[in-house]
Amino acid sequence: MTLKNKKILIIVGGGIAAYKSLDLIRILKKNNNEVKTILTKSGKEFVTPLSINTLTKNKTFEDLFDKNTEAEIDHISLSRWADIIIVMPTTANFMTKLSLGKAEDLATTVILASNKDTLLVPAMNVRMWIHKATQRNVRTLKDYGYLFVGPEKGEMACGEYGEGKMSSPRQIFSYLENYFRKRNTVKKRNLKALVTAGPTREYLDPVRFISNDSSGKQGLEIAQALHKMGVKTTLIMGPTNLNFTKEIKIKKVVTSEEMFNEVKKSLPVDIAVFAAAITDFKPLKKSRNKIKKSSLKSIELEKNKDIAEYIGKNNKHRPSLVVCFAAETDNLNENAIYKLRQKNCDLIIANDVSKAGIGFNSDYNKVSIIDGKNRIKILKKNKKSLIANVIAEIILDKLLVNDKSFN
Ligand SMILES: Cc1cc2nc3c(=O)[nH]c(=O)nc-3n(C[C@H](O)[C@H](O)[C@H](O)COP(=O)(O)O)c2cc1C
Repeated sequence: MTLKNKKILIIVGGGIAAYKSLDLIRILKKNNNEVKTILTKSGKEFVTPLSINTLTKNKTFEDLFDKNTEAEIDHISLSRWADIIIVMPTTANFMTKLSLGKAEDLATTVILASNKDTLLVPAMNVRMWIHKATQRNVRTLKDYGYLFVGPEKGEMACGEYGEGKMSSPRQIFSYLENYFRKRNTVKKRNLKALVTAGPTREYLDPVRFISNDSSGKQGLEIAQALHKMGVKTTLIMGPTNLNFTKEIKIKKVVTSEEMFNEVKKSLPVDIAVFAAAITDFKPLKKSRNKIKKSSLKSIELEKNKDIAEYIGKNNKHRPSLVVCFAAETDNLNENAIYKLRQKNCDLIIANDVSKAGIGFNSDYNKVSIIDGKNRIKILKKNKKSLIANVIAEIILDKLLVNDKSFN
């Protein structure tokens, strides 16, 4: 059993399914977890603090400005105390507040101030769930990094049928087991990753260079997603305009050769993700002075080292999982599968760069993830941050629980 001795903060929202939070509390307590709760003003209409207190053996928090509890535990300490925050049920109204970044009561303030993951467990009538405003909130919240369980399809308390039914306490418990199992293993095995991102530049002379339109966003998002899961991550980044957090170790490079050297220096690692768009060719000669326009007739090029292939075929320090990228304009999957074999990667992320608005220099991407058994998982167009979360989950599943994500 992986889910024990955890500190779990449950926020009970104002929905008819609120009574099921009592069952989750009971299961968590039975497995020796500590549970604290916040009851929203509407949540209190559905379950009583007395029922919750009896099960948690802790006081229920309700008010942001409660002078008694603020002295005992303030909203910041409460958010730091938790290993994870669960909002159950997450109402349509609560999602609106979170997607606007509101901090108008204890529940929303704790979540906004938290440095931990927040798991949302939506429950509402099918019409509320499929409403465009709710779906826009879901997209925003996923982009912000909120985790979701459910909702499921089924018959609702109001008698209608459809998507919107809250996942059962058992389903939430297994989600939590899987969540903590992965993070515990990452910690125990002290997993390390290197991620390359961005373009590289190959200078012809001091002012001119060959490069490409890579923004580095996808690689940065993957590095951040791995870091969030507890993997010690080094990001090796070509020239970009991106802002990055200080939590990740960053090595800035300019040329492909510099990137290659930094990659070698970062070994050994367990995971290597090659998301950088390396400039495949470089000028055979680099002029020390600016070349006169009139004297430049042609440029002689030579091939750069294929870093992913070098690492994929490296017997001495080959990471347990090598992930390559294939940016293609035609025959996406066939070309990607060929590259996967040629570079001896374990996974290849193929993206179509022929279409405007996705891939290069965009916040969005649409990718196929292909594994060594030619199994293809297609992710529809989405924010790069969301694609990165899925890729990071698949990487860890492949490494820790063997292929689960392709079944
Ligand atoms: C009987 C009843 C049941 C309700 N059930 C739900 C529900 O399942 N999901 C939901 O999103 N809203 C539901 N609502 C509406 C919410 O209670 C309301 O939007 C409330 O402001 C949400 O509070 P919260 O943001 O603290 O969760 C229900 C309202 C009533 C009166």
